[in-house]
Amino acid sequence: MNLVFLGPPGAGKGTIAALAKDTLRIPHISTGDLFRYAIAHETSLGKQVKAILASGELVPDSVTIEMVKERLVKSDAKDGFILDGFPRTIAQADALAQMTTIDHVINFVLDRDSIVVRLSGRRMCKSTGRIYHITFNPPKVAGIDDETGEPLIQRPDDQEEAILNRLSVYERQTQPLIDYYRHKGLLRDVDASGAPELVLQSILKII
Ligand code: AP5
Repeated sequence: MNLVFLGPPGAGKGTIAALAKDTLRIPHISTGDLFRYAIAHETSLGKQVKAILASGELVPDSVTIEMVKERLVKSDAKDGFILDGFPRTIAQADALAQMTTIDHVINFVLDRDSIVVRLSGRRMCKSTGRIYHITFNPPKVAGIDDETGEPLIQRPDDQEEAILNRLSVYERQTQPLIDYYRHKGLLRDVDASGAPELVLQSILKII
């Protein structure tokens, strides 16, 4: 099963993908996580994209497409995958169509106010990528990861200015993909406002 999770920043794509990958037994491939890993490990890719991520702009298509191409040929993705955060432009979607077929594009639908509340309250564990929310999904001890005991961080792009920029980048460059995939008969709208388990159930019903 080849899935794409599409939707605005903070709609819950990463949270639901982390649940769905266990149920469906396919890997969760997040381009945002791949870039953050490269930044944390100070690779040449990481150095190239660090400032771009902090600002909320998109990494150039050529760089992103090459990274996804290399990831999709790994053996764990041979029976399917959840692509989270890719494609984000029409050029990326065209490139993906050359790489593989897609069964469903899950479009996470959430209003702007809820997006801002979710992003500004998000905290994450830097080493594992585990996602929390200070109100909706708090850790057992405030500010500390439940499993590793490490202090949680706020992503640099979850500051107000970067959030607003990411939303406008999404509207300008990624929203056109809704029509692109609807046209191809692949788009499945999902109400992302419920609790994570409810959102997951809606997706499982669709696929
Ligand atoms: P990326 O990491 O993909 O960021 P994003 O798309 O902006 O998505 P987020 O990770 O912010 O949100 P999410 O939908 O996964 O929400 P989450 O589950 O965390 O990309 C980061 C950057 O990398 C980009 O800005 C760009 O620079 C670069 N990049 C990445 N891909 C690229 C590409 N293809 N091309 C070019 N550049 C690219 O949830 C958010 C919060 O809400 C959490 O706190 C969570 O606990 C909470 N929450 C989630 N679901 C629920 C729920 N159902 N109920 C209550 N709370 C919830």
